[in-house]
Amino acid sequence: MQFTVALDGPAAAGKGTIARELAKQFKFAHLDTGMLYRAVGLKTLEQGHGIIDPARAAAVAGKLQDHDIQRFDLRSAMASRAASKVAVLPEVRKALLDFQRVFAKREGGAVLDGRDIGTVICPDAEVKFYVTASDEVRAMRRFKELEKQGAETSLEAVLMDLQIRDARDSGRSTAPLTQADDAVLLDTTDLSIDAAVEQAAMLINKKM
Ligand code: C5P
Repeated sequence: MQFTVALDGPAAAGKGTIARELAKQFKFAHLDTGMLYRAVGLKTLEQGHGIIDPARAAAVAGKLQDHDIQRFDLRSAMASRAASKVAVLPEVRKALLDFQRVFAKREGGAVLDGRDIGTVICPDAEVKFYVTASDEVRAMRRFKELEKQGAETSLEAVLMDLQIRDARDSGRSTAPLTQADDAVLLDTTDLSIDAAVEQAAMLINKKM
C-alpha cells in the first residue's frame, strides 16, 4: 500500500511532532525533510570554513550520506540558519528531490514534513496539511525547547530568528513556503498538538 501524508508549515508550528505521532499511529515511515537541508547547510559550512558557497552546497546535496545526518548537531540555531540559506538554491533542492519522492512512495505509507512537500515534492499526496501558529506561540515553543537543551538565548532573539527564517522561506523564488490549494489548515495557536494530531488522524482514516 502506498499512502503519502504531506505536512508543511513555518518553523516551530508543531508539524514535526504531529508528523511523528501520525507516523506512529498509522505505522508509516517518517521523513523530517528539514534534516536534509540542515545537514547540507552544516557540511557546506564545514567544507567552506564558515562560508556557504552555492556550488559547494549543490555538490554536498548531491552526495549526502546517512552519516552526515547523524554526525552533526542538526537542532542548533546555526544549523537552522545554514539550512535556510542553502534551501534557497535551486540546485540544492533539485539534488534532494528524488530521495524525498522515493521515500514518499515507499510501501506501507509515508509521512513527510517540510516546506514544499504538498506543493513540489508530492503534489499528488493523498492527504496534505498546512500547520501554522502565531509568531509568538511558535517562538515560545522553540524558546522552551532550547532552554531545555541548556542553550542560552532570549525569547526576543528566538522570535527574530524565526521571523528572518520564515521571510527567507516564504520569499524565495524556488519552492517557497506556501499552503497548497488542497491542504487542510491546522492552526495550533489555540489548538493543542494532541488535538491537532486527532483531527489529522481522523482525516487520514477517512481517506484510507
Ligand atoms: O523544518 P526545519 O526547521 O528543520 O527546516 C530547516 C530549514 O530547511 C527551513 O527553514 C527551510 O529553509 C529548509 N527546508 C526547506 N524545505 C523543506 C524542509 C526544510 O526549504 N522541505
